[in-house]
Amino acid sequence: MSTSLPVGQRVVVSEFGDEPLQAIESFATLVPQPAPEPATLGSRDVIIAVRSASVGWVDLLMTSGQYQHMPKPPYTPGLEYAGEVVWVGPEVGARAAVGDAVLVDGFLAGPRSTGAYQAWGGFASYAVAPAEAVHRLPGKLSYDQACNLLGNYETAYHCLVTRGRLQAGETVLILGASGSTGLAAVHIAKLMGAKVIATGRSPAKLEIVRAHGADHVIATGTPEGGVRPFHDEVKELTGGRGVDVVYDGVGGELSLAAMRCVNFGARFLIVGWAGTPFVARGRGQRGAPNANALPTNLMMMKGLDVLGCPTVIGTIKDPSLRPPRLARIMEWAASGQLVPHVSHRFPLGDFKAAMRAKWTGEVVGGCVLHP
Ligand SMILES: NC(=O)c1ccc[n+]([C@@H]2O[C@H](COP(=O)([O-])OP(=O)(O)OC[C@H]3O[C@@H](n4cnc5c(N)ncnc54)[C@H](OP(=O)(O)O)[C@@H]3O)[C@@H](O)[C@H]2O)c1
Repeated sequence: MSTSLPVGQRVVVSEFGDEPLQAIESFATLVPQPAPEPATLGSRDVIIAVRSASVGWVDLLMTSGQYQHMPKPPYTPGLEYAGEVVWVGPEVGARAAVGDAVLVDGFLAGPRSTGAYQAWGGFASYAVAPAEAVHRLPGKLSYDQACNLLGNYETAYHCLVTRGRLQAGETVLILGASGSTGLAAVHIAKLMGAKVIATGRSPAKLEIVRAHGADHVIATGTPEGGVRPFHDEVKELTGGRGVDVVYDGVGGELSLAAMRCVNFGARFLIVGWAGTPFVARGRGQRGAPNANALPTNLMMMKGLDVLGCPTVIGTIKDPSLRPPRLARIMEWAASGQLVPHVSHRFPLGDFKAAMRAKWTGEVVGGCVLHP
């Protein structure tokens, strides 16, 4: 059986670049995409007509092979996407039906997955995923919001709850709080009953972060593009004690400044390094010649727990982490307690502009493409 679906389009990255902006300019193109042919698919496969695909930081880092997981080029970016089911295999059962609005789990399909579905990224008109990867949109989430749910909120949950052991009444300092995972961390910390101090470079973006629940915001930038010390402000906001948890997705100088803002025995969560993205070599060469370094004297004297928090790797090592995390996030989304914020939307044809906007820090929360 074939479908009568029209020809669409998809983005293809033909080879890894030296760094993301160069990779996008030189090696990423939009090409025609015939609809997937059901005769070539498995009995539990689902074809999705993509309506929204998230443009994430990892999608960018992947184009230069500077992310730890590398799909083999040529590949289609788009770790996370949402859309309408347009075909289901004969054994999909109650999991999905034609016409359903669904989001697709990036652990099980798309370029971050490891198996047969890696080829189907979301920067495309169509994608194929196994039935297990497909979830009906929870609550009142739109396609734009839904494709910004799992990766961001699972990361924030893994870091703050599983690794950080965040408790109600504690204070957490969230660096890069306007980012996709940073804003998710603000939402989850508030749902956990914590007090949130959020940092960022842009006062205007921080006002949006405040509107999303941050109790206090601190602009940490200098006119020269550096980081100013802010431990006095944090100490004042915490009655002189310092924060109990730091959520650090930025790295570099900001990590060091944040390490001076902690209570004795705090947990310092290493989430990522958006501020120093060129830790690894470009073009998919491994090694980390530009790795961030942090002072052991502060770790020692402040009795810090410094915790690495790789969500996907941690979950592959311990798969029991995932079901309760996924269930909690889906429940929060279904009840309207979690609603991802999306500041930028682009048609698929403008994927280069969308990726540039994400890379240069224009976005607050999510950025999406509409195929
Ligand atoms: N641990 C995990 O499992 C996991 C999962 C997903 C992502 N990550 C990593 O976590 C990091 C953040 O990801 P994300 O998706 O939230 O990225 P994002 O949406 O781009 O947000 C990062 C934020 O960091 C701030 N920032 C960027 N460059 C900066 C600089 N030079 N100096 C100071 N602040 C800067 C920006 O906020 P302002 O403009 O407001 O300063 C930006 O909003 C990345 O390194 C990513 O690879 C880790």
